[in-house]
Amino acid sequence: MITIIGLKKNFKTGDDSVRALDGVDLQVKEKEFFVLLGLSGSGKTTLLRCVAGLEKPEAGKILLGGQVVNWAERGVFVPAEDRGIGMVFQSYAVWPHMTVFDNVAFPLTDGRRRLSKSQVRDRVSSALEKVKLSHLAQRPAPFLSGGQQQRVALATRAASLIRLLRNAAIKACSKQRARSRAIDPEATRRKRTIVSRQER
Ligand SMILES: Nc1ncnc2c1ncn2[C@@H]1O[C@H](COP(=O)(O)OP(=O)(O)O)[C@@H](O)[C@H]1O
Ligand SMILES: [Mg+2]
Repeated sequence: MITIIGLKKNFKTGDDSVRALDGVDLQVKEKEFFVLLGLSGSGKTTLLRCVAGLEKPEAGKILLGGQVVNWAERGVFVPAEDRGIGMVFQSYAVWPHMTVFDNVAFPLTDGRRRLSKSQVRDRVSSALEKVKLSHLAQRPAPFLSGGQQQRVALATRAASLIRLLRNAAIKACSKQRARSRAIDPEATRRKRTIVSRQER
């Protein structure tokens, strides 16, 4: 059984602070198949990382099989290796040492066909707009949720595909559009994150 009471977790990103978890309460019963569903950036991974002991929440309590592994108010924090938990990670092909903007711009500035600074800026802005990440352009890529990183990867490919799309035959264009629809950020709504307690 997993019990979570009043869990809060904030992230500092320079001058900003992100409220990733704001008083989460939930209970997963023994052998229950539990699905955590939410929009990209809504806090699913942060919650799983708190349960696994990879993040230290500012407030709240976590119990695993009746044992308190986290109780922020009492200074209780059982380390990850002592929790008997298994976690499968998400990973994406984004450059960890670059901002969101620089990731999307990279193939345009260092690729075979280099573009002018203003062309790059236009291309990147338009690609980030499409995946609804314009507001995070200057954030370092590792400080994003998994779904947001997925959208950076998508924007990076889209930015270098624009010219190709413009010049392509109608048939090829409609194929690409169908593919773009299939990986629309809205589809992440259906993404399922499964919390499962590792068999001891
Ligand atoms: N290491 C981090 N530093 C700063 N902000 C972060 C970090 N990890 C996640 N966030 C932010 O916290 C929020 C929740 O992220 P996350 O739990 O990864 O979302 P989800 O898994 O639901 O897509 C997002 O706004 C994200 O940008
Ligand atoms: Mg996630």
